[in-house]
Amino acid sequence: MPDRPEADVSAAPTLAVVGAGAMGGQIAYQAALHGHAVRLISRSDERLQNASRACAILLRRRVEKGKLDGDACEAAIARVSLSSDFGDVGGAETIIESVAEDRGIKREVYARICEHADDIAIIGTNSSTLASSLLEESVTRSERFLNIHFFNPALLMTLVEIVPGPHTSEDTILRAMNFAREIGKTPVRLAREEYGFIANRILFIAIQEAMRLVQGGYISVEECDLAVRNALGWPMGLFELSDLVGLDVVEAILDEGFRQTGDERWEPVGMLRDLVARGRFGNKSGGGFTNTTA
Ligand code: 3HC
Repeated sequence: MPDRPEADVSAAPTLAVVGAGAMGGQIAYQAALHGHAVRLISRSDERLQNASRACAILLRRRVEKGKLDGDACEAAIARVSLSSDFGDVGGAETIIESVAEDRGIKREVYARICEHADDIAIIGTNSSTLASSLLEESVTRSERFLNIHFFNPALLMTLVEIVPGPHTSEDTILRAMNFAREIGKTPVRLAREEYGFIANRILFIAIQEAMRLVQGGYISVEECDLAVRNALGWPMGLFELSDLVGLDVVEAILDEGFRQTGDERWEPVGMLRDLVARGRFGNKSGGGFTNTTA
């Protein structure tokens, strides 16, 4: 079977996802599963191809396991068209930006998006570390801009945090909530911005505590993960989860939290710094806390 059936690139998308990393790719295919015509956009053709191949494999595996109808799967894959032009967002009612957590890169991306976006389009950033108020100078309509934050892996995790900035309109918030529901997610709405929003604030402070316990010699990585899974009923231990998220990403989220809040609970502990400095980024490269062979 080819990686993907021919998508109709001439039709206007209802959703445009800008950024084809692990998050952007899975957000695009999640929406396509729920009937959206999606344009997935990245400057890198290689990232587009990788995202599309990886998501097609995950969806076809669902078909093999009898969890998804084969025709529905192929129709969803065909609903995603790939583009390497950030300006290719025209016609989309919803635009999700999921590029690198770098203000300079995001600024360039927004300039291009805003040149071509329809006036009525809402723009959601999937950023977990930059609230929309820190980015809004780069968009033309701050009332249509907010954080729409997904979780990894986005094809599976059902929470979406909807975080309005100071200028986001009520209509934009309601449209973002509806969009999340439409694509099978459970949205929660924050009253106002807060570093880490809800889930990451709880999770990353918990990860820091787990690392402090191991660093202090109280328990091993494996036993700490066993304790979290068995006592709290979390599906993964905190070290296993850190390896999934990527230790470089964990460190960056903690660093930014410390920078933005000045709260020492966010300051990355030494054992994390050491691993990242040695190029151990978790499952994606070099191994991490639990995966020592990657
Ligand atoms: N991407 C997509 N699908 C994945 C996956 C991944 N990385 N890992 C596993 N899956 C799929 C498998 O293919 C399988 O699908 P199938 O049944 O259709 O074939 C299904 O998940 C179940 O896989 P497993 O049986 O191997 O594993 P689990 O039952 O343990 O489920 C899990 C995997 C859903 C990842 C579960 O362990 C879990 O919920 N872990 C916690 C994840 C979490 O906390 N995420 C939040 C991270 S923080 C974040 O994203 C915030 C950001 O700002 C950093």
